[in-house]
Amino acid sequence: MSIEVDVQASPEELLQQAEALLSVTSDPVSNAANLSAFLFEVLEDVNWVGFYFLRNGRLMVGPFQGKPACVLIPLGRGVCGTAALTRQVQRVDDVDDFDGHIACDAATRSEIVLPLVKHGNLLGVLDLDSPREGRFNLHDQHFLEDMASIYLRSLE
Ligand code: SME
Repeated sequence: MSIEVDVQASPEELLQQAEALLSVTSDPVSNAANLSAFLFEVLEDVNWVGFYFLRNGRLMVGPFQGKPACVLIPLGRGVCGTAALTRQVQRVDDVDDFDGHIACDAATRSEIVLPLVKHGNLLGVLDLDSPREGRFNLHDQHFLEDMASIYLRSLE
């Protein structure tokens, strides 16, 4: 089965394509890998897209696209650890303004991290970085929240 990725597609079409892509299996690693690759392919101005999973009380890097990243992030540390600890989306227009931001790629200027919570349990986070300041607006946040929901539903 192959999914055509159309960068001209509307957000609604992209959500449908992601849903189809993640409908084949409920495996959390396979679906994280394909969703990372899909988002990296269809979104403009992103230099890192990937997952961190909660392992032994810390975030451990999972499937991603982009430069090699730090492996372990304590809860409460950096943008990812803050999203995980607070279970709130962290949308950072300028990473230099975020106290404790962990720089994995010096090109990163803005970042959004979405907590992944299923049945009240924190599974990890979905992290996207951009080389453009202010890349992620509220519209992008809602779109990515829908993508995160598709991922979480795919695990059932
Ligand atoms: N910038 C993140 C670390 C992960 S990398 O961006 C891939 C943070 O501050 O948590």
